[in-house]
Amino acid sequence: MVEAIWVEKYRPKSLDEVAGQKEVVERLKSYVKTHNLPNMLFAGPPGTGKTTCAIALARELFGGVWRRNFLELNASDERGIDVVRGKIKDFARTQAIGGDFKIIFLDEADALTKDAQHALRRTMERFTTTCRFILSCNYSSKIIEPIQSRCALFRFRPLSDEDIRKRIEFIASNENLKLTEDGIKAILYVSEGDLRKAINMLQSASAFDKEITEEVIYKVVAKARPKDIRKILEHALNGEFFKARSLLRDLIITYGMAGEDVLFQFHKEIFNLNISDEEKVKLIELIAEYDFRILEGANELIQLEALLAQFVLAGKK
Ligand SMILES: Nc1ncnc2c1ncn2[C@@H]1O[C@H](COP(=O)(O)OP(=O)(O)OP(=O)(O)O)[C@@H](O)[C@H]1O
Ligand SMILES: [Mg+2]
Repeated sequence: MVEAIWVEKYRPKSLDEVAGQKEVVERLKSYVKTHNLPNMLFAGPPGTGKTTCAIALARELFGGVWRRNFLELNASDERGIDVVRGKIKDFARTQAIGGDFKIIFLDEADALTKDAQHALRRTMERFTTTCRFILSCNYSSKIIEPIQSRCALFRFRPLSDEDIRKRIEFIASNENLKLTEDGIKAILYVSEGDLRKAINMLQSASAFDKEITEEVIYKVVAKARPKDIRKILEHALNGEFFKARSLLRDLIITYGMAGEDVLFQFHKEIFNLNISDEEKVKLIELIAEYDFRILEGANELIQLEALLAQFVLAGKK
């Protein structure tokens, strides 16, 4: 049997199970009580519960028949907005079961062009008596004003370390994994408030080992441990170019990291270094320059080493 995907297996089925997003959940629960909904705009970073809340809401409103009253579409379906509107029309044609309206959940609404959003707005207007729309996006500012003004806005926040920790510990124990303290810390560091990312990491790591340590996590995500990155930066700033270079090469080989990921981690760790703000600014500027060079297609290893050389020079001043 193919193993279930944990992000689906552990998707909360009720609003009460949703981690964090307290404000959002409270407001949604009040709609369940009154059995009425406005059109809504869910805005926030990936993996923070937008789709999950929409489904949980539908379950609570419609019970066992929720699927019949809930349509999930990707707004930016590559076949175009007309295909999306066609599907909405088909779905909206029939009556809701066990309720007064159906819910249409549109993912990635902010990927639509302005024209497509205007077309969508007209469709929303047309079915406003029989359907409620939930538009999901990463940035509400990318949604045209006429849609924004017709929707109640819900802001989803990156999940706190505490919320992610609780959920990951729960899943780990349910899956009979041993999760070490440095293992969970690594998951928190890499997931950056994205619970989907955290759960996927745990599942990939579990395929390697039932004991989830820092080492396993950084291997599966092809990222370096923060302390290894810090060591490279510190050597370079101390003028020890060859030590820094050799650690860098180890990293690239051990973790199979891409150049831009190394830069991304350099960028993140610079803020934890014990240097002046002025020096930090200088290093960030350098990273941006080398990021651009790599993006333009220059040889990654040469550029990374050249960046270390620049750090050596910056450290001397
Ligand atoms: N707030 C949360 N509480 C509990 N589980 C969550 C939460 N957010 C995310 N998850 C977990 O991560 C998975 C993905 O979450 P979800 O689909 O809700 O993300 P999303 O916000 O819709 O992201 P995207 O912007 O990429 O569509 C869920 O199946 C669930 O396992
Ligand atoms: Mg989603």
